[in-house]
Amino acid sequence: MARRDLLLSAEALRRLAQTPNLDQALASLDWANLHLWVSPVSLALAGTPIPQALRQRLTVLPDDPALLLSDAFSEATLLDTYARRFGIPYVVQPPPECQAPGVSVDDLLNHPDTLSFFQEPVRFLDLRAQMPDVLNGFLSGLQEVLANTAFVQGKQVQAFEEAFAEYLGVRHVVAVNNGTAALILPLMALDLQPGDEIITVSHTFIATAEAISFVGAQPVFVDVDPRYYTMDPAQIEAKITPRTRGILPVHLYGQPADMDPILEIAEKHGLFVLEDACQAHGAFYHSQRAGGWVRAGTLGLAGAFSFYPGKNLGAYGEGGAVATNDDALAQKMRALRDHGSFRKYYHDYIGLNLRINNLQGVVLREKVKHLDRWNDARRHWAQRYRDLLQGVGDLQLPQEAPYARHVYHLFTVLTEHRDDLLEYLKAHGVQVGIHYPIPIHRQKAYAFMGLEEGTLPVSERVARQTLSLPMFAELTEEEVSFVAEQIQNYFRGV
Ligand SMILES: Cc1ncc(COP(=O)(O)O)c(C=O)c1O
Repeated sequence: MARRDLLLSAEALRRLAQTPNLDQALASLDWANLHLWVSPVSLALAGTPIPQALRQRLTVLPDDPALLLSDAFSEATLLDTYARRFGIPYVVQPPPECQAPGVSVDDLLNHPDTLSFFQEPVRFLDLRAQMPDVLNGFLSGLQEVLANTAFVQGKQVQAFEEAFAEYLGVRHVVAVNNGTAALILPLMALDLQPGDEIITVSHTFIATAEAISFVGAQPVFVDVDPRYYTMDPAQIEAKITPRTRGILPVHLYGQPADMDPILEIAEKHGLFVLEDACQAHGAFYHSQRAGGWVRAGTLGLAGAFSFYPGKNLGAYGEGGAVATNDDALAQKMRALRDHGSFRKYYHDYIGLNLRINNLQGVVLREKVKHLDRWNDARRHWAQRYRDLLQGVGDLQLPQEAPYARHVYHLFTVLTEHRDDLLEYLKAHGVQVGIHYPIPIHRQKAYAFMGLEEGTLPVSERVARQTLSLPMFAELTEEEVSFVAEQIQNYFRGV
């Protein structure tokens, strides 16, 4: 159970002090996970003797004469100030209906009517925070779209494709309606046959494998590197068979997979490489082959990006894109995303409707101007987390590979206490996430592959231990320190 820190009001203290069979009631509480705090003022206001059994459970906070002398003094403002100052997330203030005799100690300390959470939780992601950067450009673009009523795949999408191609340093960007489509589209263009195999990872979002399955091919999973959580290139060759057609590494959490050895193996065996860059907009990989730093998603035959709103580059809705330097592939993908046609009602291929709406072109074109600055801010917060959390408990902090410039789409830590820490942080005002709790080979959808627990031990362990902390460009020093402090507090109690 997560530890609860509670700041008691005078009324809460009075009610506790007057509980019948207090010693017994207190003995039944889980003190390893409960801490009661009280201000000297509330102690005085309680106006009742505090039995020894309760007294020894209380931590009395230091007095603050300045607060008492303020004109606006009330116990409520005092509790609020103390809770904030000492980082105590819950204040216990029983309202009149909870003051009837017979309310148990347990009820008093746990009842939602008596507890108030005094802080705004630190959000996992706050999409409101970047609006000011984007709003003006978005509103003028919106007016343009409304004026010319080209709502789908119009001029704004084309302008974004050009801007993003320039940003990435590739010849072509083909925008589509989500990241899953951005994975499917190049695979469709490659005319895979049923039974063809594509080597990928299991520790990723399911869309990576779904795209392979959707085109009738078979995902073949290799494990991830235990330091960086991306494809372990040393495991690829053992999985190559005569049916292998390609390799699909994932630049997970914003860190590029080790592309040079992957590209070398692909070249040696005549395989294509499709990069899942859905979490790595703007990240760099240092490639010996390319002779320097290159953007993630531009090294293989093609790279797939997602613009799901929470991504480092996110649309105001769904969006995605494929980046490539291959002219013929780009041309075919442009047709395939639009029912296989180059000319309306003339269809050269069996395609799909994977078109993106034009308003997303406006948003993305505006946002791409800010992407490097936002990524720099994410890197700054990642470093702050690392400074504050180094050596805390059993935490394994994210490491940047020597060949990578990570853009921290997610900041994930590993701990054996993951589930417990997650509950603790939620109870202490920190929103967190798990990416991802079950590796793909252990998902029900892929049970048909018959891959038992133990097949991919690193992926399985990471899934059990990974926890994602709040991460977005507009985090504040207070928020990052608060998150780190809660984690430190948790490990003090373990
Ligand atoms: C690694 C990875 N691949 C693919 C996708 C699919 O993108 P979308 O949700 O835009 O379809 C995502 C999105 O979360 C992702 O994180």
